[in-house]
Amino acid sequence: MSQAEAVVPVPLAPPLRPFRMDDAATVAQLNDMASGGLLLSGWIRKAGSDGDPWELGRLQQIDQMNSGWIMIVLDQEQGVEAVLMGQPLPAEPVSVDDVDAEWVPLVELENLVPGAWCLHVIATLPEYRGKGHGARLMDIAETIARAGGHEHLALVVSDANGEAIRLYQRCGFSENARRPMIKGDWDGPGQDWVLMVKPTEAIVEERINPDHASIPKRPSG
Ligand SMILES: CC(C)(COP(=O)(O)OP(=O)(O)OC[C@H]1O[C@@H](n2cnc3c(N)ncnc32)[C@H](O)[C@@H]1OP(=O)(O)O)[C@@H](O)C(=O)NCCC(=O)NCCS
Repeated sequence: MSQAEAVVPVPLAPPLRPFRMDDAATVAQLNDMASGGLLLSGWIRKAGSDGDPWELGRLQQIDQMNSGWIMIVLDQEQGVEAVLMGQPLPAEPVSVDDVDAEWVPLVELENLVPGAWCLHVIATLPEYRGKGHGARLMDIAETIARAGGHEHLALVVSDANGEAIRLYQRCGFSENARRPMIKGDWDGPGQDWVLMVKPTEAIVEERINPDHASIPKRPSG
């Protein structure tokens, strides 16, 4: 059964709110920007010559909401300006047998961090960038990961996406692994997909004592 809006496990204050079905067209565009055009190439392939790829993209956002993805938009009452989408990764590695070739390296990277809270999408419309929306959404992702007891936050980014990598480094993520991109119909920017990870342990220390954020936790016992 279709939901009216995404279920979000932590309280949200304006300008953040759960994704709603009428956000789906804008969120499809944001989602495609975050993928570097990889999503649109798949929607074009699936739509065929008579179909509408952006309509497939719009419907995909609603399916993701209905399948339990956490989807949060930033809206200052003028419509969606930015989005965050994520979910916990499964505890067991996912098979890549039925995955489209271009997506295989991304799934392989996600398989390296089972149980992490994965930011699948973080994106701001071009006209609203550089206003702190990305950092604000990253903050709520950290809150969700901590609330769910996840040991890591994780995301995959193109090595050509310097703007996003700067944001992630500033927020405490570091590179964990990389895989060469597979290019077919899609020939987006970059050579490698990069897995970036932030331990939630570091998040907790940072909040408790910002001066000691980089001190490793002592082994227990
Ligand atoms: C990466 C992305 C999400 C960042 O979003 P954003 O809303 O611009 O993020 P922020 O505003 O928090 O930070 C961006 C810059 O603005 C600066 N900034 C933050 N708050 C600011 C403010 N109030 N005033 C001025 N500048 C500010 C930040 O310092 C940062 O500077 P930097 O580029 O030197 O690192 C955005 O560029 C984007 O949507 N890119 C396309 C989609 C994408 O690639 N997503 C990631 C896929 S993995």
